[in-house]
Amino acid sequence: SAEVVPQAPEDALFGLAAAFRRDQDPNKVDLVIGAYRDNNGKPWVLPVVQKADDLIRSDPNTNHEYLPIAGLADFTAASQKLVLGGDSPAIKDQRVASFQTVSGTGAVHLGALFLSKFYNPNTHRTAYFSDPTWPNHFQIFSNVGLPYKTYPYFHKETRSLDFDGMYSNIQGADEGSIVVLHACAHNPTGVDLTQDQWKRLAELIKQKKHFPFFDTAYQGFASGDLARDGWAIRYFVEQGFELCIAQSYAKNFGLYGERAGCFHFVTSPSSDASSTVSRIASQLAILQRSEISNPPAYGARIASKVLNDPELFAQWEKDLKTMSGRIIDMRKALRNKLEELGTPGTWNHITDQIGMFSFTGLTEKQVLHLRDESHVYMTKNGRISMAGLNTSNVDYFAKAVDKAVRS
Ligand code: LMR
Repeated sequence: SAEVVPQAPEDALFGLAAAFRRDQDPNKVDLVIGAYRDNNGKPWVLPVVQKADDLIRSDPNTNHEYLPIAGLADFTAASQKLVLGGDSPAIKDQRVASFQTVSGTGAVHLGALFLSKFYNPNTHRTAYFSDPTWPNHFQIFSNVGLPYKTYPYFHKETRSLDFDGMYSNIQGADEGSIVVLHACAHNPTGVDLTQDQWKRLAELIKQKKHFPFFDTAYQGFASGDLARDGWAIRYFVEQGFELCIAQSYAKNFGLYGERAGCFHFVTSPSSDASSTVSRIASQLAILQRSEISNPPAYGARIASKVLNDPELFAQWEKDLKTMSGRIIDMRKALRNKLEELGTPGTWNHITDQIGMFSFTGLTEKQVLHLRDESHVYMTKNGRISMAGLNTSNVDYFAKAVDKAVRS
């Protein structure tokens, strides 16, 4: 009977967002969910998205028919180019199977589900996540029956990358493990590998015959430069890896609720690569059909319109710079203010880290102090969504941090 169903805990992130909404304090600050806000603290519809939206709405051919199972072909083709680079040999050789998904989460899920069915079915195939990682990784992989472990990633003392720890842990993993990697703007730490470290890691992963699984949710959002943010994935593909990619358009297009994303499986160069890819695509089609039948059209239409039109694309790049630029300004403002206040500790990591998040190094106790005393909301691991800061609340936040650190 239904009585056997136990109570599950509330999702930590969305639970916190709800707690913020309930808080009546006029000074409350929301640094919880990674969603861009403008300098007025309001959601921002990218001007280019507004333009694409107007074009789609006024097009008499727009309708609400089903998309194909693999999604909007113009969208998936443009997504390949965006993530792999327009002149990628993998695209030319037709070595990529791409499926439109329910945003990045759907792409991670489709990839994990596919691997659970077809990757090393009779041997070890543990997935390795960075410690810490986006918490949803754990439940997505475990829901499809893949075991997981973590590799060290973040050095608490220096608040920077623990590359040696990461390297030796991945080296020690069973051959053929799945290594999940954040392509750029690591969530939650805001700390990425240098290109040199990516190269060393690629060599190790090749040696160990591991399978790289890239999660890319912030291309263009980290540095404001799409090619630079896509560098790691493009490098791995150049090295001939078989790999997969979960691509989200939530953040870089501000299409959070529209759930536009794409999953790519890239095979290694070989004479029968394109027949391998069509077999992979045939299996992905069955998985997709049984779960969502076909993906939601609206967000993909918007992204596709922009990605396939050079003028709109150029406007999008400007919009990306607006978002990443404002976040960089807030990093500088926060660090300056904390240093001005003489808040105990060092604060250079605030400007060293990149992307949507900063891993402040605040302890759980300090995080709770901030919530209780100052109505500032962030996850208990000390992650803040930088986009929640603006010129009106950054001083208030810095003072609140100062108080919490000294308490
Ligand atoms: C976040 O980490 O805040 C975002 O990626 C939102 C989510 O879905 O968890």
